[in-house]
Amino acid sequence: MSDIVIIGAGVIGLSAALRLQQAGHSVTIVAKDFPTPYESANKRALINYSSQWAGAHNRWILPTNPAEQREHGFSLTTYRHMEATMAKFPEAGITFMKGIEYFDVAPAVHGDLTEEQALGLGLEEFKRLGKQDFPDDKVTYGYEYKTWCLNPMIYCSFLLRQFHILGGKILSMELRDVNEAFLVKSLPGVQVVVNCSGIGFNDTAVFPTRGQTCLVSNPSAITYTRQYADGTWSFCIPRNFHGGTIIGGTKEPDNWDSEPSAETRARLLSNAAANYPTLVADGPLQPLGDIVGRRPTRRGGIRLEREEIPAGDIKGLQDDAARSIVHAYGLGGRGYELSWGVAEEVMELVKQRVSSRL
Ligand SMILES: Cc1cc2nc3c(=O)[nH]c(=O)nc-3n(C[C@H](O)[C@H](O)[C@H](O)COP(=O)(O)OP(=O)(O)OC[C@H]3O[C@@H](n4cnc5c(N)ncnc54)[C@H](O)[C@@H]3O)c2cc1C
Ligand SMILES: *[C@@H]1O[C@H](CO)[C@@H](O)[C@H](O)[C@H]1NC(C)=O
Ligand SMILES: *[C@@H]1O[C@H](CO)[C@@H](O)[C@H](O)[C@H]1NC(C)=O
Ligand SMILES: *[C@@H]1O[C@H](CO)[C@@H](O)[C@H](O)[C@H]1NC(C)=O
Repeated sequence: MSDIVIIGAGVIGLSAALRLQQAGHSVTIVAKDFPTPYESANKRALINYSSQWAGAHNRWILPTNPAEQREHGFSLTTYRHMEATMAKFPEAGITFMKGIEYFDVAPAVHGDLTEEQALGLGLEEFKRLGKQDFPDDKVTYGYEYKTWCLNPMIYCSFLLRQFHILGGKILSMELRDVNEAFLVKSLPGVQVVVNCSGIGFNDTAVFPTRGQTCLVSNPSAITYTRQYADGTWSFCIPRNFHGGTIIGGTKEPDNWDSEPSAETRARLLSNAAANYPTLVADGPLQPLGDIVGRRPTRRGGIRLEREEIPAGDIKGLQDDAARSIVHAYGLGGRGYELSWGVAEEVMELVKQRVSSRL
């Protein structure tokens, strides 16, 4: 099978790389940033590397339109993949647990969702919560289900090790232009590049959604989310594997501020203590550090498609064969949740190209 270059070593690039290896391709990852242990990561230098700073958990979003239906399918594929990975590789950084969501304003789509309908949508152990379960009387609606959380650095390092042991090659470099990926000297004749650059380069439709969170050492057996009436959020994501718990968090479109705000930290921590009593049952929250990340968001949604580049459009090639770029970026706040569905789609787009040329 052919050689493929993947730009990016975030959760999307790594998942797509493994999927393509399984299909028999030989894959090289070209990236500026790679998974780094939390304790030693340079927060400023890696600020654009979204995967490093995620929670990360799976929070089901019930579909109301075709785009959401497609994403829901991706999240189900990912859920099943996470189950299988955890069973086979307990060291991968994944934990399954109860997820609880509280809403001050019930979203219309959920209104009368029954346990049966929820199961039909793939939500296991779904249960509506009652008033007695809510943290205060502003919450009007809530439910729980079974879900997964992961420790992003452990998980991404695990994917990278899998990739390496399957013969994957790595080039650590920053590309100035996507065409450079076709011109890597050690990979002559590469015809397919997969663009998993997150927020990289300069697609004017892509913008960052800033997220500030705080890592605490307190453990939690449950992942929680609360959506307030004013549109702000509180969430609690246990990382496990000695990674503490993430207390979040903000969602600030187009905010490039790389520095954490002390006022935001204070608000996030006091909300968490009030909403999730089990978190502070053994003592107050113990902050370990603030995190600022950038979710690679895209107007118009995820870009997941193949682009054909006519022969001659890339200067410096040694032959005149046409090239393709498979784009897989703009995952916003759902990169982990959708990762294996996206990887499957990338594999299909590569496969279609190969068969259309036979
Ligand atoms: C605070 C916060 C909480 C989050 N929580 C969750 C959650 O609970 N669940 C969830 O699913 N998602 C969550 N996310 C979102 C998730 O982190 C992203 O959707 C995901 O990491 C995107 O992955 P990616 O691989 O597309 O991009 P990235 O992780 O940003 O990776 C991009 C890669 O491309 C490389 N690259 C870019 N440009 C170039 C270039 N010019 N040359 C070479 N290499 C380049 C980078 O170095 C990097 O390796 C959260 C994000 C934040 C910030
Ligand atoms: C992050 O991305 C922005 C926009 O592309 C860029 O200006 C900035 O230099 C990047 N920061 C780092 C640390 O790479
Ligand atoms: C970024 O956009 C500018 C203007 O649209 C363009 O001139 C430049 O070549 C682009 N850079 C890359 C790396 O694509
Ligand atoms: C690759 O993805 C980036 C977004 O991360 C985008 O800006 C760029 O335009 C894409 N490359 C091409 C050739 O379209």
